[in-house]
Amino acid sequence: MKVQKAIIPAAGLGTRVLPASKSIPKEMLHIVDRPAIQYIVEEAVSSGITEIMIITSRGKKAVEDYFDRSPELESVLLKKGDLEKYEEIMKISNMANILYVRQKETRGLGDAILCAKSFVGSEPFAVLYGDDIIKSKCPVCKQLCDAYEEFNLGVVGIKKVTKEQIKKYSSMNVDFIRDNLFKITDMIEKPREDQIMSMYSILGRCVLPPEIFSILENTPVGVGGELQLTDAMKKLAQIDGMIGVDFVGKRYDMGSKLGIIQANVEFALEHEEIKDEFRLYLKGFLGDL
Ligand code: UTP
Repeated sequence: MKVQKAIIPAAGLGTRVLPASKSIPKEMLHIVDRPAIQYIVEEAVSSGITEIMIITSRGKKAVEDYFDRSPELESVLLKKGDLEKYEEIMKISNMANILYVRQKETRGLGDAILCAKSFVGSEPFAVLYGDDIIKSKCPVCKQLCDAYEEFNLGVVGIKKVTKEQIKKYSSMNVDFIRDNLFKITDMIEKPREDQIMSMYSILGRCVLPPEIFSILENTPVGVGGELQLTDAMKKLAQIDGMIGVDFVGKRYDMGSKLGIIQANVEFALEHEEIKDEFRLYLKGFLGDL
């Protein structure tokens, strides 16, 4: 079945990037001149997704405003004859059919996904974490949707990570299928050293069948007192098996200070308007280090 719906969970507190995220949603922190969440919506749209639900929470109104029309700004740009900027602003509000729902308490990613149950209905759906930007030629969400359509099983985007990282993320049991595809039969969230199954972790994207909702509803609260999506996917992997796609693309963790800076430097080096000037600046700056 074709994957046409996506959920972007963006209700987290963003404690790792405080104080910036105190009054600005971390999903609105910018990479050069656009907020992180715009890249994520663009990735979903270019993967063939037609309907998006963003999970928000108190203090995240800026996300909704960003994808809405802005009549005052539009008329000022039109009056000034700045058609290029006008069209860019219009494009953002016409980007996709976006719906919003609020997660009332930040009870974990699994709980955030449950908020989208009626939006999803009986279809498979993609999940794009609101703070994970992945740069790639073929959108990573599409790489996962293709695997879902081929195997008709839930799919997770995976990458090998370091031992320090795996303890903060997740670990899974993987069996090689072909190319960059693996069968996954077990996984664990935030493993202790003796629980590490492989150095593969889930990073930022998955495609799930609607059956995940009844599993989530029966999953107890896990690590950190939160309802963990990984715990529900573990059950799915143990029952039916899941597919892991060692995706082609570079991930930037916009939920961390270092990730934000890395994304800004690398995207700036490719940004049409500033790339030459920025490269010169960076070379000079590095020379002085
Ligand atoms: P994270 O664990 O990275 O987000 O969740 P966080 O809780 O904001 O992070 P820190 O540790 O406090 O800095 C991954 C994604 O899931 C969303 C987050 O917004 C992020 O996009 N999320 C997390 C929710 O929507 N609801 C939650 O209850 C938790």
